[in-house]
Amino acid sequence: MRQSGRDNGSTVGPHPPPEGAPALSVDNLRAYYLTHYFGVEREVRAVDDISLVVRRNEIYGLAGESSCGKTTFLKTVAAAVRPPLSVIGGSVQYAFLDRDLYALNPAKLSAIRWRRLSYITQGSMNVLNPVRRVRESFIDFAYRHMGLKRRPFFAAVNEHLQRLHLAASVLDAYPHELSGGMKQRVTIALATICRPEFIIADEPTTALDVIVQKDVLAMIREAQQQIGSSMLFVTHDMTVHANIADRLGIMYAGRLVEEAPTADIFANPKHPYTAHLVASLPRIGEQSRKESLSGAPPNLANPPSGCRFHPRCPLAMEVCREASPALTTLAPGRRVACYAASPLVKPSPTAERVAGATHRAERVGLVQ
Ligand SMILES: Nc1ncnc2c1ncn2[C@@H]1O[C@H](COP(=O)(O)OP(=O)(O)OP(=O)(O)O)[C@@H](O)[C@H]1O
Ligand code: SF4
Ligand SMILES: [Mg+2]
Repeated sequence: MRQSGRDNGSTVGPHPPPEGAPALSVDNLRAYYLTHYFGVEREVRAVDDISLVVRRNEIYGLAGESSCGKTTFLKTVAAAVRPPLSVIGGSVQYAFLDRDLYALNPAKLSAIRWRRLSYITQGSMNVLNPVRRVRESFIDFAYRHMGLKRRPFFAAVNEHLQRLHLAASVLDAYPHELSGGMKQRVTIALATICRPEFIIADEPTTALDVIVQKDVLAMIREAQQQIGSSMLFVTHDMTVHANIADRLGIMYAGRLVEEAPTADIFANPKHPYTAHLVASLPRIGEQSRKESLSGAPPNLANPPSGCRFHPRCPLAMEVCREASPALTTLAPGRRVACYAASPLVKPSPTAERVAGATHRAERVGLVQ
């Protein structure tokens, strides 16, 4: 593991960023919650023009404050879109598919779930059925995908549990008999049993205390490496990202505002919002109080004009209020959307272009 220059005891960037081929390519993705209450239409732009690539074998971390759209982005790339969420535009391409995710019919989608694409949802440890033993959950999730008879299926389950340092006796337990950390380990074992090419994980360690969190992170990393899969990992906790992510994308108000290898984000954040996230981390021996970000998180039904961060940004200029900055490549692997970060950053040509878009999820019948 590489050591960071930071003094807060965290290790930054567990691995050098891999240079592998894309495992997931997302282009200009927009997903909005479209609601009608008492005749009033509301459009919450939770994912608004996001483009990113996750490479083979890497863990791509996505960070940002609560309600910035992290879970919505994951739902959209996992094709777990239900009303009132609707995909407005853009594309989602996995390397293991020969077409856009949203061009798949429901049968094909169902065939790739768990087998090739696993989604550990926010609060997923609670998806274990409380009245069924863990053994039955493995049957429900994985039996039909693995194409094995019952005996070899359970031999494969036992082998998988062993690889992940879980006792086979966990299969006989009911979820309420397990600690939070153990339930989360079981959920990760379930999500990886079919050896999926791509794993999506939403806040898998948030409800756990720090020691258990460390063990679960080690388990996630181990499972990902054993399978050789790629991973999109969401948490608002930057210290968790420091310990697991190869690269980091920073989201603010439905948009990606910065992206870089994890070590570079911590050593040299370019966007003022990223700089705030990094500066607010506790450091060993530091006594002074951390400044909180002034102002409130933006309302995504009526986001600020121009750069969405401008009402809270200490560096805001006139142009920031008028035009949204494009996410711009400053160096290989380094993208930022901030006029103050570089003169290369110009207004985005696509940011506000939404009129006339089709609601693709409804059109292709993906809304479940
Ligand atoms: N069903 C819904 N209907 C309308 N708006 C929604 C719905 N679900 C989420 N939102 C809104 O979409 C925005 C993004 O929510 P999302 O859950 O994606 O954020 P998040 O970054 O995952 O937050 P957290 O860190 O708290 O999990 C928020 O403004 C939220 O209020
Ligand atoms: S574009 Fe302007 S408002 Fe936005 S982060 Fe940069 S300096 Fe601040
Ligand atoms: Mg969330």
